[in-house]
Amino acid sequence: MAFRSEHLAVNRHDVGALDSGVPELDIWLREQAAGAVARRVARTFVWVESQRVEQVLGYYSLAGHRLVRSTLPTSVGHGSPSEIPAVLLARLALDVRLHGTGMGGVLLADALRRIVIATSTVAARFVVVDARDELAAGFYEHYGFRRIPASLRLVQKVSDIAAVMPSK
Ligand SMILES: CC(C)(COP(=O)(O)OP(=O)(O)OC[C@H]1O[C@@H](n2cnc3c(N)ncnc32)[C@H](O)[C@@H]1OP(=O)(O)O)[C@@H](O)C(=O)NCCC(=O)NCCS
Repeated sequence: MAFRSEHLAVNRHDVGALDSGVPELDIWLREQAAGAVARRVARTFVWVESQRVEQVLGYYSLAGHRLVRSTLPTSVGHGSPSEIPAVLLARLALDVRLHGTGMGGVLLADALRRIVIATSTVAARFVVVDARDELAAGFYEHYGFRRIPASLRLVQKVSDIAAVMPSK
């Protein structure tokens, strides 16, 4: 099966079809995502199968963000200004039918690719994610994010992501 991400379009995508196992993430997609796009506070991309683009199998949301250097460990904040431009990976969820298949990593890589491309136009030094629980934090750590101590916040430098990203 071939999957791809697309800009959320409510007249094209069945947002009610997603069951990520986390109701609040499914409800946000159904009820809040389009409004957030309209207000330009978050862009949402849905994950669809090429042959059935209406069926939403996952999604992620991206927004601009500002990190305060003093909230970061010195080893992470070193070399940055006191206020650091960043991109927030605000939400990421995959349908339960695809959990444990490696597709979560593929979806994350898709989000990170979009971020790297966007930051060639608007600078951002870090990708930031606020994991919803320890399990999700472990998922992000597996993909190179570094935990801010005593929190569920994780960051990764855009330059580090770009350095390992295969060119398409
Ligand atoms: C988070 C989510 C996208 C992960 O997708 P998934 O399909 O379960 O995970 P994958 O199978 O793609 O895992 C990819 C890799 O990460 C690893 N991984 C997954 N969870 C992990 C964890 N908690 N700790 C360490 N590694 C983890 C897997 O072992 C796998 O590694 P491998 O490819 O080397 O075997 C999915 O579980 C989901 O949508 N959950 C509900 C929503 C959610 O919690 N979103 C996070 C919001 S912050």
